[in-house]
Amino acid sequence: MINTEYHDPVLLNECLEALIKDPSGTYADCTLGGGGHSFAIASRLAKEGHLHCFDRDPEAIAFATKRLEAFKNQVTFHPVAFAKLSEEIAPNTLSGVLYDLGISSHQVDDSKRGFTFQGSNPLDLRMDTREAESAQQWLRRVSADEMAGAFRFNADLDRAYKLALKIIEIIAATEGEILPENIRRAVESVFPDKRHEINGILARVFQAIRMEVNGELHQIEESLRGAVNCLLPGGRLVVISYHSVEDRCVKNTAAEFEKDCLCPERLPVCRCGGHNRKLKKWNRKPILPSAEEIARNPRARSAKLRVYEKV
Ligand SMILES: C[S@@+](CC[C@H](N)C(=O)[O-])C[C@H]1O[C@@H](n2cnc3c(N)ncnc32)[C@H](O)[C@@H]1O
Repeated sequence: MINTEYHDPVLLNECLEALIKDPSGTYADCTLGGGGHSFAIASRLAKEGHLHCFDRDPEAIAFATKRLEAFKNQVTFHPVAFAKLSEEIAPNTLSGVLYDLGISSHQVDDSKRGFTFQGSNPLDLRMDTREAESAQQWLRRVSADEMAGAFRFNADLDRAYKLALKIIEIIAATEGEILPENIRRAVESVFPDKRHEINGILARVFQAIRMEVNGELHQIEESLRGAVNCLLPGGRLVVISYHSVEDRCVKNTAAEFEKDCLCPERLPVCRCGGHNRKLKKWNRKPILPSAEEIARNPRARSAKLRVYEKV
């Protein structure tokens, strides 16, 4: 049963093919969302198989718990950030770990969550609403330098410093909550020559703020390191990313584990023993969605699937 109302799972068959080698194994879906991938994984498990589902968004956990009711004896829910993977799961126990990064369609579509620049709700952008700092608080706290750094690094945005100064100026003159229209005004004023691209720029600005508020790159690095530890030899690490900064973070973190020798480059001879490799690539080039999938689900268009195997 594919219920696409909450979120239409991306690259579903490709993920399942890469992830599940042993139907009696134990798996982790680190980004449960609406449970689309989890439902399909659980449906393929033998009765000895088990699935650990992580999501830091309590709404996702509540929705998917109902959806996975039929598998309740084989599924354990972890309502925490996936950086905690290795605190929750024992080392060398998993046959596969899946990440479908970013946010779900439900999170974007529910304007109360303040994820979208198209709504009129105050900026929030927290995946876990129990976390202390919302986007509004982040915008009020950081310096122009820090804000500009986030726009540059997380979204490759030019005129980042000018935009940060403008946002700070507009916020200072705004009584009450920070609304999407305040950010739009700043973007329109800094990019007057790009009137036809304003929505694209706003999407990137929101992405950059969201990544800071949720510590997304730190979460990915920390969790991938934990996943390497939790996987059994031969186990698969399956990751879908949706933009270049996320993808680079996945590639660079995995690359640390693809090297045999961990000695600093300046050492003339290897001193570490040279047998440290823990991951190898399962697919040389990232797997992309088909034209048919993109036509059916436009949110799949930027997806890239990378798969590694623990050695
Ligand atoms: C793209 S959606 C996953 C959709 C899911 N695969 C499906 O088929 O419905 C990403 C989900 O991961 C969650 N998420 C993102 N970063 C997270 C993190 N660091 N820890 C835990 N959950 C996270 C989000 O709250 C969101 O529900």
